[in-house]
Amino acid sequence: MTAFGMIGAGHLAGFLIKGWLHAGGAGDEILVSPRGQAAAYAKQFGVRVASDNAAVVAQTKTVLLAVRPAHAAAAVQGLPWSGKHRLISLCAGVAVSELSMAVPARIHRAMPIAAAAIGQSPTALYPPNDEIETLLSRFGPVFPFSNEGHFNTASVGGAVYGWAHALILETADWFSTQGLPPETAQTLAARLFEAAGMATAERPETPIAEVLQSLATPGGITEAGLNALKDRGADAAWRAACAAAAEKMRSRS
Ligand SMILES: NC(=O)c1ccc[n+]([C@@H]2O[C@H](COP(=O)([O-])OP(=O)(O)OC[C@H]3O[C@@H](n4cnc5c(N)ncnc54)[C@H](OP(=O)(O)O)[C@@H]3O)[C@@H](O)[C@H]2O)c1
Repeated sequence: MTAFGMIGAGHLAGFLIKGWLHAGGAGDEILVSPRGQAAAYAKQFGVRVASDNAAVVAQTKTVLLAVRPAHAAAAVQGLPWSGKHRLISLCAGVAVSELSMAVPARIHRAMPIAAAAIGQSPTALYPPNDEIETLLSRFGPVFPFSNEGHFNTASVGGAVYGWAHALILETADWFSTQGLPPETAQTLAARLFEAAGMATAERPETPIAEVLQSLATPGGITEAGLNALKDRGADAAWRAACAAAAEKMRSRS
């Protein structure tokens, strides 16, 4: 049985296919459009390749769109959409209204990250829908939004995920320049960020400012580092990065 179809078989499609298998699904439950890495994914993961985009729509009820934002509208134009279809666009910054050529299909947006490949993608979804939440939960926790503006804001998280890697890199680099073996430095840095994220996510009722205060003992090393970051404007720089990513997304739509 086909679980979902995909139009666009590039990087993101690869992460989602891996995530589907990671969650116990089978490759042949996924039907992909025939361009990009489709043939390689068929060979490596056993996904089925449709003859064209129209065949993806004709043979599936749920279609994920994973082409570059500039190609989104053209990719869904003229396909045999019906009221039974749900189109889930994963294209950053492409508004639901830009995909109206797929109506009568019901149109949704979702923003998974590469960690979908290991079932760890916090995925924003707009608008909420139980069936789609169940599907996306295979790739990690789902955050449904009823407001498209809020979804856009949450989608900046896709970029934050990238910057977290930059912070891990800086930390690991510093560890190694101080003499730690590079592999240990990288794993240690990654595990520190993982621990901070997990500890915070597991206590949603505790404000993060409170957690931070409890960690920054007066006169201690955490406080010393936080002060150094503040003195150099790191907090303002981080907010500027969020705003820049949001603006980039807005200018695409
Ligand atoms: N990469 C991520 O981590 C990530 C995360 C969240 C959201 N996204 C979103 O996902 C989308 C895809 O990103 P990506 O990184 O996977 O890009 P990508 O690697 O460039 O893949 C896009 C694929 O779409 C194919 N394509 C273009 N037009 C098509 C059409 N009309 N019909 C069928 N296939 C078509 C391309 O095929 P050809 O190679 O043959 O042109 C290419 O293989 C983007 O909109 C991005 O905003 C990506």
